[in-house]
Amino acid sequence: MIFIKNRHEIKMMRRAGQLAARLLDYIGPFVKEGVSTQYLNDLCETYTRKHGARSAPLQYNGFPKSICTSINDVVCHGIPSETDILKDGDIVNIDLTVNLDGYHGDTSKTFLIGDVSPEIRKLVERTEEALMIGIRSVRPGGYFSDIGLAIERYIKRFGYSIVKEYGGHGIGRRFHEEPMVYHHFTTENRITLKKGMIFTIEPMIIMGNNDAVFVSAEDNWTVRTVDGSPSAQFEHTVLVTSEGAEILTKTQETEMR
Ligand code: MF3
Ligand code: CO
Ligand code: CO
Repeated sequence: MIFIKNRHEIKMMRRAGQLAARLLDYIGPFVKEGVSTQYLNDLCETYTRKHGARSAPLQYNGFPKSICTSINDVVCHGIPSETDILKDGDIVNIDLTVNLDGYHGDTSKTFLIGDVSPEIRKLVERTEEALMIGIRSVRPGGYFSDIGLAIERYIKRFGYSIVKEYGGHGIGRRFHEEPMVYHHFTTENRITLKKGMIFTIEPMIIMGNNDAVFVSAEDNWTVRTVDGSPSAQFEHTVLVTSEGAEILTKTQETEMR
């Protein structure tokens, strides 16, 4: 069941999206060489509470922390830790989801730590571009599979791989709603996009031609590339409008009401 959000729900989702966007802006300057991912987790938790919201990942299916921090070959769901210290040349995805008055905003970004090699920097830039291309492919009357098709057409030329086991998702009162949004073309996503649908687009792109990933047996969360290749990810929560897509997790200049 894919929900069509009503006016009230859209208003609440805009607020939640705004808070998630501001949280990502807030944490950015702290994402530096020498800091632990636990420190970033704690800053996010405090900011989220201060703004009257809850960190949605905390205790979601038993996830132990408030945010996901995924370094280098970690594809997603990295668990913040006191012993994970960001170092020069790393890339780290910070994935934030807030629950504000019962509605969710979900966004993520991959940060560069210090001097990142040019080829890895390109991976990160192109992954962000893949997200934007996916967003621009959204139009009411189109298909969810248009998103994967557009991203795949763009990404393939670089010899990168698209993660297939994890995807975007409907979002609203629930953190993860139907449907799963694939970032490669699949007929499974031949589902019509309708005005009022809200979902995330969050491509995970791996350098090289091996798209295989595995879940760490130690913590049952951390997803890594099998060959150790770096992986980048960016995420926005979007609303289908009559024109195309409105990004709910983009920082707005105007006051929140
Ligand atoms: N924020 C992730 C997403 O984009 C999900 C994290 S689930 C958690 O869907 F349990 F790891 F927090
Ligand atoms: Co997320
Ligand atoms: Co998400």
